[in-house]
Amino acid sequence: MKILFVCLGNICRSPLAEALFCHHLKEQNISEAFAVDSCGTSDHHQGDLADERTRSNAFKHGIEITHRSRPFVADDFEIFDLIIVMDESNYDTIERLSLDPDQMEKVVFLRDFDLEEEDEIDVPDPWFGGEEGFEEVYQLINRCVLELVRTLSAES
Ligand code: 4NP
Repeated sequence: MKILFVCLGNICRSPLAEALFCHHLKEQNISEAFAVDSCGTSDHHQGDLADERTRSNAFKHGIEITHRSRPFVADDFEIFDLIIVMDESNYDTIERLSLDPDQMEKVVFLRDFDLEEEDEIDVPDPWFGGEEGFEEVYQLINRCVLELVRTLSAES
């Protein structure tokens, strides 16, 4: 199964989601069943490593992020089985790039997998805030990704 995580810049939320997802797949010995990538709806940071604050916070938890930013392209709708966006703005942007409504059927929100705060839709963007925002987003993304791995492994 091919899974793509999407945010705006592809330097904070989605590369972290990708790294955490891969980490939990490895822990459960199911990595081989998945191909995983992440991207941004903007090409502003194309080729860049993830934000230093995202990488150093993840590293404190033993998670290394080596991904380089790349923009979402319409072909991603064909390549990936599941496309997971971080917020409504990401959803709207890729909806505009879709060629037919069926393509959006494979798009879900990461917070669909949040069992703690079921009414929230967006993973907040830590980019403009302080250091504590990076830890909060780490904890939020980690719990959602863990539930995603549980859901997918139960389905397979
Ligand atoms: P991300 O965060 O979408 O989680 O990667 C952002 C990173 C950079 C910018 C915005 C959001 N920016 O405006 O450059």
